[in-house]
Amino acid sequence: MQVSKYFHDLFLSGRLFLPLQNYDPMTHAFKDILRKQDLDREEIKVLLSAEGERMQELLRRGREVKFSHLDNYVHLRGLIEFGNVCEKNCLYCGLRRDNARVDRYCLSDEEVLSCARLAHELGYGSVALQSGERSDPAFIARIEQLVREIKKIDNGSLGITLSLGEQSEDTYRRWFEAGAHRYLLRIESSTEELYYRIHPRNEKHSFRKRLDCLESLKRLGWQTGTGVMVGLPGQTLDHLADDLLFFKRMDVAMVGLGPYIPHPDTPLYRLRDLVPPAAERMDLTLKMIAVLRIMMPEINMVAATANQTVDPQGREKAIAAGANVIMPNLTPGEYRESYFIYPDKACVKDRPDQCKSCLDIRLAAIGHQILYNAWGDSLAFTKKDRK
Ligand code: 5AD
Ligand code: SF4
Ligand code: FES
Repeated sequence: MQVSKYFHDLFLSGRLFLPLQNYDPMTHAFKDILRKQDLDREEIKVLLSAEGERMQELLRRGREVKFSHLDNYVHLRGLIEFGNVCEKNCLYCGLRRDNARVDRYCLSDEEVLSCARLAHELGYGSVALQSGERSDPAFIARIEQLVREIKKIDNGSLGITLSLGEQSEDTYRRWFEAGAHRYLLRIESSTEELYYRIHPRNEKHSFRKRLDCLESLKRLGWQTGTGVMVGLPGQTLDHLADDLLFFKRMDVAMVGLGPYIPHPDTPLYRLRDLVPPAAERMDLTLKMIAVLRIMMPEINMVAATANQTVDPQGREKAIAAGANVIMPNLTPGEYRESYFIYPDKACVKDRPDQCKSCLDIRLAAIGHQILYNAWGDSLAFTKKDRK
């Protein structure tokens, strides 16, 4: 018979053995998983545990998927950390209410507006307002007014992201109607049990409330972002895989992922021995970014500043693995050291114009460029909006 003769000849020539000898079922499975977009929990865990050459392959795949859906542009959000007063007591964060070692500050309206004008002059296209969590009426009204004022700069040319924690639906509506359109509210961990290991278990830190807030934001039409910290004490690959599946299920438009950095003036510091070494947290963060890019090719993903704390090249590595947003700091120099969420924050002593040219150079070195004077909305969101 023809077919058996074919194999007979192949067998004799020795070629039939070659592919079999080189066949490693694990490598094969890994490569197959890398080609998929709809990943299940087990597949995600295989990718997150990749090391060495396999990890590099994963990171290259993250970049490849990004380039095939987006482009090589990086979007900037000029970050204005306008106050560090916080009503909450998250167990990991230096700004927590009970940390008496913080010099609390709040920028004046004029200081916030001059940061926003600077963002516009530098061509950043968008600003992000971030502060500790407050929900008193004066604060809510002030933010609403500030958003309106920022929108007046050059006829609404700046996009506005808010990152001001959990608020009522009415507050989210007021801020949206004032002109802000993107909101970041990290879930920190999507596993309720781990969430309560890093937050006090009380009404002020309710996991349910945070989920409800994310739902409200989406319902109101915000471009909604969330995220988690990577390398928390007791966090496993199962937790991290579930976080990625959570982002997908929530169908968010933006994600910010960053390594956890133990802060000595916080209760969670006691568990620092359970935190993986910096290099490991960095690698895990990069793998999370690459896997998420594969799962959600069109979302906006931030290369968090915390990456640069654990690795001097951390932000560029995050961009190269699939992230596409950077938030350079615009907070006036004298306040920066008081926004001490975690130790050794990057760029604390650099002026905004220095960061701008620094970023241009660093990003060019990895084949990316900044898209100036644009809002840089998430494609995942704008596409849906058009439908
Ligand atoms: N390490 C890393 N990220 C932190 N954040 C707060 N504390 C830390 C820390 N110790 C992050 C949280 C929060 C954001 C404002 O900063 O994810 O959402
Ligand atoms: Fe406050 Fe946010 Fe820090 Fe929690 S993470 S203590 S809400 S600033
Ligand atoms: Fe701030 Fe490089 S980005 S100095």
